[in-house]
Amino acid sequence: MRLPGPQRPEPVAIHIHSKREIEKMRATGRLAAQVLEFIEPFVKPGVTTDELDRRCHDFIVEHDAIPAPLNYKGFPRSICTSINEVVCHGIPGPRVLVEGDIINIDITTILEGYFGDTSEMFTVGEVSDRARKLIDVTRRSMWLGIKEVAAGKRIGDIGAAIKGFAQGEHGYGVVEAFCGHGIGKVFHTAPQVAHTGRRGTGLRMKPGMTFTIEPMINEGTHECRVLEDGWTAVTLDGGWSAQTEHTILVTEHGHEVLTMREHAFSM
Ligand code: MF3
Ligand code: CO
Ligand code: CO
Repeated sequence: MRLPGPQRPEPVAIHIHSKREIEKMRATGRLAAQVLEFIEPFVKPGVTTDELDRRCHDFIVEHDAIPAPLNYKGFPRSICTSINEVVCHGIPGPRVLVEGDIINIDITTILEGYFGDTSEMFTVGEVSDRARKLIDVTRRSMWLGIKEVAAGKRIGDIGAAIKGFAQGEHGYGVVEAFCGHGIGKVFHTAPQVAHTGRRGTGLRMKPGMTFTIEPMINEGTHECRVLEDGWTAVTLDGGWSAQTEHTILVTEHGHEVLTMREHAFSM
């Protein structure tokens, strides 16, 4: 019998999706992507985040799917809308978008029991060069993370690429309090995908795994706090924050972006 040693984390089983399940993930991912394409023309000065929420809700339901955030752990709306200094999980409400705002819209669909999760940044009218650069670096950091995804590589490689670029090259804060996550028949499951990983560490990726990559990049400190509503995460220093997200499938020779859009900003 072995003496009790230092606690090691339990090895977690990561679900490997079958061919049939991958088809379901493609379908829900495609729908989530279509919601972002659908809502884009409505993101204009004068619109409320409640109107964006209602339009996305109706679109999803009309496509025989369920908006995953609605009632998830008590979340009161169907999408997340995170404006300016809001890092993530902003709750749609009476807030009116004004010229110069930047907003993340985060969509999660449940189609035939499978979750698809994706978010994008939108600019409201003309925005500052500073805001545009934050968004550009955020998107690029996400794509650098996605490029690391392939069978045999480690989860830590993803965050290393993201942090190396966003913080290393641009001096931005990479949020640590929220991570990417395994996704499939459940919204949030293992593995946890940190956006500040170390190369060569963490779980080894296998074909059929699906997870999100969703870096939140802050102008200033990476630190966040959650408002009294229990959801809205904001930067500790009030600096602005940006985020983009895709759901990714690990394949034999690389990866497939399940939430890809035709006119997506990619690299
Ligand atoms: N879509 C978010 C994510 O990327 C989670 C939103 S949960 C909610 O993981 F309850 F805030 F909607
Ligand atoms: Co997610
Ligand atoms: Co999301």
